[in-house]
Amino acid sequence: MKSKLLTSVMILVSIIGFSQNPIIIPSTIESTNVNLSLQNGTFQFFPGEDTATMGVNGPLLGPTLIMNNGDNMNINITNNLGQETTIHWHGLHVSAANDGGPHTVIDPGTTWNPQFEVLDKAGTYWYHPHLLNHTDEHASKGISGFIIVKDTEEAALNLPRTYGVDDFPLAVQTKAFDTNYQIKHSVNDDTTLMVNATINGQLDVPAQVVRLRVLNGSSQRTFNFGLTGNNTFHLIGTDGGLLNAPVALTRLPLSPGARAEILINFTGLQGQTLHLMSYASELTNGNYGATVPGVSPTQVLDGYNPNPLNGADFNILQFDVVAQTASPITSIPASLANDVPLAESSSDEARTFTFTPLTGGSEQLNGDFAINGVTMDMNTINITIPLNNTEIWTLQNFSSIAHPFHVHDVQFYVLDINGSPPPAYLQGRKDTFMVPPGTTARIITKFEDHADDTIPYMYHCHMLKHEDALAGMMGQFVVVDETAGLDDQEINKGALLYPNPSKGSYISIILNNKSERILAYSVVNHLGQIISHHKIHENEISNIYSFPVFELSQGQYFVKVFTDNGIITKKFTKNN
Ligand code: C2O
Ligand code: CU
Ligand code: CU
Repeated sequence: MKSKLLTSVMILVSIIGFSQNPIIIPSTIESTNVNLSLQNGTFQFFPGEDTATMGVNGPLLGPTLIMNNGDNMNINITNNLGQETTIHWHGLHVSAANDGGPHTVIDPGTTWNPQFEVLDKAGTYWYHPHLLNHTDEHASKGISGFIIVKDTEEAALNLPRTYGVDDFPLAVQTKAFDTNYQIKHSVNDDTTLMVNATINGQLDVPAQVVRLRVLNGSSQRTFNFGLTGNNTFHLIGTDGGLLNAPVALTRLPLSPGARAEILINFTGLQGQTLHLMSYASELTNGNYGATVPGVSPTQVLDGYNPNPLNGADFNILQFDVVAQTASPITSIPASLANDVPLAESSSDEARTFTFTPLTGGSEQLNGDFAINGVTMDMNTINITIPLNNTEIWTLQNFSSIAHPFHVHDVQFYVLDINGSPPPAYLQGRKDTFMVPPGTTARIITKFEDHADDTIPYMYHCHMLKHEDALAGMMGQFVVVDETAGLDDQEINKGALLYPNPSKGSYISIILNNKSERILAYSVVNHLGQIISHHKIHENEISNIYSFPVFELSQGQYFVKVFTDNGIITKKFTKNN
């Protein structure tokens, strides 16, 4: 009797376990005026169980924002979370002030109003929180949304583009839940897989070519996408837009933060069921999601095992093929965009970024990790880049786990991986690139359009646990316009800071106009905060004044010089 009951309970559980749920398709906002509300909510990932969530204009996820190249966006984001956060436009080429990085905090109860022109190519981008040390918490609780950018080049192609009909956004994520069905973050027991917040997701697709905009929105996990039966699909776009021609694939690894636009031809398959899979058994060790997360089987990652998703092949989404739509696309186009990658010979500057573990031995996968020997410091600008520089960045991963390296502001091209050209699926525009352990890879990009002396952009690992650690795997760069604006005025005004940059203890302000007098000066940090203000004693007033800088830590500053003719602002760099 008891065992009969147990058996029927088990059958019931397995039926529930395998029941398929139509995935949520986020609503769209197609307007240059966008109102977003960040809010707390509850959502039932598991039938009958309330989970506390965070979302945008709803309990979780957020509306898909549809933008056109050239649009002037005016976005109001009201923070109703009761705590600080930020919203970052991942992949969009916007100014640092509009980028929504850790410096652009939206206080609870306030509204942030980024305004920017859409300079991006047609593609799939996304938005998510980026508060220092809290990105994973806020993203895992549910805040993330798609951005679809359209342009005339894409519009001229014979591609599926009817949202929710033959063009679908798929945010693929794993999450970790505690025994009360509440979301945990920055842990390694992410055993629950979901697509657009739907567990055991199912999607009706018409019997024609269907476009999937796939985002790996997981905190840490890499997927190795494929179709059941090893059917071929076509990659048409990467992080920053369309490829020049579709790439036929049976497998596509996708790291956290990265996107892929793929076409699947379901023509003639009406009535059939197929699955989008992750063939994680084929991931090489050293990827989060493989059998062993490090390069060596003895390397452990707390909570990683047992996890049914690690090193296993599993279903991500069930496709049920239904009737064709009215004017279906039934073939894969032969060519797509006309994108010309930056030439290696155009580089103005080469920089190297080393990834090293801060913990040794078998524990090193548990973190933390440094970039060029240092970890995230809000008060340190790690790199200053002249506007319009084309740069080659060499990424060297000296740790035992792969890190998805993400750069704000730009799209880049992968030049080579251990000296060899990248595979076809990595030859497009990228903003997030998985650097395997023990690997040296080079990327090339150009820093154009946006300069800001004070607000930095970020570069970081997009495994959110690595990014969010107190010793965070993240750094900051500013793009500076050395030829325009302030400097011209400064030169005309004839003020000099000497020496600049300085490693020494004192610098001098020298006014060329000998009859102009220095009355006071302020030192302002890159956040615009006044560090010191000093009024010059009457009998020291002249056109020259020297003051101490040995207490300033390394970084970029502004020196404001108050003269009897006005205020002169000079940039100053302190080196140690
Ligand atoms: Cu998707 Cu700096 O982030
Ligand atoms: Cu980003
Ligand atoms: Cu990392």
